[in-house]
Formats: sequence, C-alpha cells, structure tokens
Amino acid sequence: MKRPDAQDYLVGVAGAGAMGQGIAQVSAAGGLRVVLLDANPGAAQAAIETIRGRFARLVEKERMSAAEAEAAGARLEAIDAVSGLADCDCVVEAVFEDLEVKRALFRDIEAAVGPGCLIASNTSSIPIASIARGCDRRGRIAGLHFFNPVPLMKLVEVIVGPETDGATAEVLAALGTRMGRVPVTVKDAPGFLVNLGGRAFTTEGLRISQDNIATPAQIDAIMRDGRHFRMGPFELMDLTGIDVNYPVSQIVYDGYMHDPRLKTSAIHKALFDAGRFGRKTGAGWYGYDDKGRAIDPPSPDHESGAAPAHQVALAEPDDALAEFCEALGLKVTPDDGTAPILAAPIGDDATQTALRTGADFRRLVAIDLTCDTSKRVTVMTAPGADPSARDALAAAIAATGRKVTAIKDSPGFVAQRVSAMIANLGCFMAEIGLATPQDIDVAMKLGLNYPLGPLELAEDLGTARTLRILERLQAITGDDRYRPTPWLARRAALGLPAHTPA
Ligand SMILES: NC(=O)c1ccc[n+]([C@@H]2O[C@H](COP(=O)([O-])OP(=O)(O)OC[C@H]3O[C@@H](n4cnc5c(N)ncnc54)[C@H](O)[C@@H]3O)[C@@H](O)[C@H]2O)c1
Repeated sequence: MKRPDAQDYLVGVAGAGAMGQGIAQVSAAGGLRVVLLDANPGAAQAAIETIRGRFARLVEKERMSAAEAEAAGARLEAIDAVSGLADCDCVVEAVFEDLEVKRALFRDIEAAVGPGCLIASNTSSIPIASIARGCDRRGRIAGLHFFNPVPLMKLVEVIVGPETDGATAEVLAALGTRMGRVPVTVKDAPGFLVNLGGRAFTTEGLRISQDNIATPAQIDAIMRDGRHFRMGPFELMDLTGIDVNYPVSQIVYDGYMHDPRLKTSAIHKALFDAGRFGRKTGAGWYGYDDKGRAIDPPSPDHESGAAPAHQVALAEPDDALAEFCEALGLKVTPDDGTAPILAAPIGDDATQTALRTGADFRRLVAIDLTCDTSKRVTVMTAPGADPSARDALAAAIAATGRKVTAIKDSPGFVAQRVSAMIANLGCFMAEIGLATPQDIDVAMKLGLNYPLGPLELAEDLGTARTLRILERLQAITGDDRYRPTPWLARRAALGLPAHTPA
C-alpha cells in the first residue's frame, strides 16, 4: 500500500459534481496528481476548468503563487472511463447518493485498479459496509467523508467499516492530511459523526419551539449570545435547507432504532411537507428576500415599558445570583411580600423552583446564569405569575444595556436544555466508541463551527450540572429523550472529566 507522501501518488476521483470538484481541488492543491471521472461526457473536463479558475482567483487574492496555481492545475487530468483509474493508489467516489449506483461503481473500480489501491466513498448517509458488500477485497474499502464546500471545510471523517483494515484507515487519514484537511477516524454508524452529533442542537431547539416555550427568534438569540454559536438552530436549518436536515434527522433516527434522544418534532416535518426549505425557497422558519436576507425577523427582546425594580429577594441562598444582582445595582432584601423573588435554577423550571423553595410563584422570576449574560439574559416565570414582577426585573436588566428574553416555563430554560442535550449526545458518541472523546470535539468544532465540542461543553457546564439538567428534564417532562448517558452519569458521580476514557 503506497504512502500518500510519495511523489507520484495518484488519486482518482469518481464523480465531478459539487463534492468531486472540491475533492479534486484540495488533492491537486496538496501536491497530489488527480484523474477525474464523470459519467456525464465532458463534465470532468469542465470541472477541471472550474478548479483552474478557482486557483486563478486564489492567486488574485494572494493566497497562492502563480507558479503553485499553474502546477496544481497541471496535476488534474480528465478521464472518460473507469479503466482510466487503473494506476490509481486511491480512488475517492463522489457520485449520486444511491446505494445501487455506488455498489455497481465500486465493483467496476475494484476490477480496474491494482490490489494495493484504496477505494473510499464520500457518502454522507450510506453505510460503508453496504457499499463494500459486492466487493472482494473489503479491507481496502472505507469512507472519506468531506464537507461542503470542501476547500473551506477543514474536516474529513475517515469512516472505518467492520471489514476495513487498520492500515487502510491510517493511510486515508494521512491522505486527508496531505489534502490539507484534519482527519478524524470514525466508526461506520448512522450519520457517522457530525451528522449524528449535530442532531441535538436542532432537535432540542425544535422541541422548545413546539412546546411553545420560546419562539425560533428567541431560541436563536439565546444560543448566539448566551452560548456563542454563530447561528441559532433555526437560522442554521434555514441555511442548510429543511430539504436536507429533515431527511438527515430521519435517517439518523431510523438508524439508531428510534432512540427518543434523536427524535425530531412534528413542526420540522410540517415545514418539509410544505416545501418551506429555508433561504433557498425564500421561506422557512424566517422569510427571506432574493438576496437571502431575513425579512423583518421577529424581535427576541422583551420590552414592557415597566419601571425598573430596585430591590429583590432571593428564593434561596445563591452567591452567583447575589453577585449578579449587585452587578445590576439591585438591593437584595428579605422578602417583603411585594418585590420580585429571584432564583437561578439548574434544570428545574420556575414551577418546581417555587415548590422546592417555598417562594411565592406569582413573584418568582427565574434567571439562567449558566451561560454568558453580558449581552442577553433569559428570564422565565411559572404559569399564573404576575407579569409585573418579571417586567420590573427585565427593566432593571435592560437598564444595564443587556437584552432580555422572556420565555415560558421550561426545565433548563433554553440554553441549559440545548447545551445539555448536545453534551449528552457527545457522551453517547464516546460511549459507543464512535471516535475518541478528543476527536468528537474536533469534528464538531470543524464540521459545524461549534464554539466548543460536546464534551468540552459538558466540562464548561460542569458534568454534575449537566447531569442534573438532564435528570430534571427527564423527571419533569417524563420524556426518555433526556435520559442521561451512563458515560456522563459515571464521570459526574466520580468527579472525573467528561473526556475520561472508558
Ligand atoms: N453536497 C453535499 O453537501 C455533500 C456533503 C458530503 C457528502 N456528499 C456526498 O457526496 C456525493 C456526491 O454529492 P454531490 O453533491 O457532489 O452530487 P452531484 O449531484 O453534484 O454530483 C454527482 C456527480 O456524479 C456523477 N455520476 C453519477 N453516477 C456516476 C457514475 N456511475 N460514474 C461516474 N460519475 C457518476 C454525476 O454525473 C454528477 O456529476 C454523494 O454521495 C453525497 O451524499 C455530499
């Protein structure tokens, strides 16, 4: 098996569509010779011209020298039959997402190439073992899963099927590095890593919206300002397209035998059925103009015109909350029967907090202090609460320049809930040995631009707090989607970091 650092290493790319072009581009830019094949006559040559045009633009932007662009462009060659792949050291397949098409092509490639040639599929959803089934030498078959647009997305998942040789995985990882990507090695399982790990962010956002706790605009703003995601779950769904993320959700849900943790919501399917796919159709969770800008998105901010509170009581002793009140200039006094009563629950809703502490639920205002509160603060009240307590507190917060988002009663507010679900799914991935804990974090940060990996998020929240949020969510809602993974529960109980190996 030839090493990808060999001068004459030859990569074949089958399929010259969006992904094949990107893979050919990063291969040539990484110094590899490439032969490009497409079933559509002329498509491979046209793709090569497109790639050379991209190299020329990189020269204009001074991100590549003219000599490098010339050399990289010269490493690309179009071929018009599978027999043209005969001398390849590795073939990366990126044709239509269709099992029968891929299986037939893999058999043809296997017949054309030498015994040392690796064959990898860029499939995003088909098990590698299913594609390899019709081949004789399955040890050299694996997945090499790139992300769109390939030249900008640094991550590549090396998917190791049950029959893939260790040496194959190792050489593919080295090949990914030569292509300028960051490889992570992942087990052959539904959605692989990123498409599974990405479920929690959107599915929990959807559940919160469906339960009428907060609007999509409120959830997006909380996740951006409170947890530093570049986009909230609804903005992200509109960008990737509901026609993509709804079917992916279903593939992963079916693949994991309907694990409630991975279940999406009826409102997701309704949007898919209505053809409201997001930016590409001008409407999704938000409306868009023809330049893809959201039209009049609803405000996530709470504004009531109430006079700011000056004095509050605390439902229970809480140093962090007392400090927060001080920062707001609020005087904390014993309950006088009229002022707002504040609490900063972990996992509990306002109702349970009132019951647990004996505070008057009508004046109880719960605040989420587990995330960044420098720009936006989430407040939450129980049903039947007196809005004037919340409004007076919100006005005091707004007077310090922070925005306020007021939501309905929810165990774990919005940020705790979504964060704990992301962390728990990361722990699930570690538990089933999908990848190492460190690679899970790397993949989620590079593949989805997450500010922290899921296990880092568990650490940031604290494993014990993450566990408590999930336990309270499960107890209050009665829904098994919130059941904590044994991976998390054990580490929290032993006081160990979330990354501690099994
Ligand atoms: N688009 C994405 O965001 C994305 C991301 C990751 C993975 N993928 C996967 O990458 C693969 C390709 O996706 P795409 O978006 O580039 O598709 P695409 O439709 O843009 O391109 C597919 C190309 O394959 C060619 N083709 C079809 N059958 C062929 C055959 N038997 N031999 C040679 N060429 C053939 C087609 O002519 C077409 O040019 C799919 O498996 C897809 O699931 C896509």
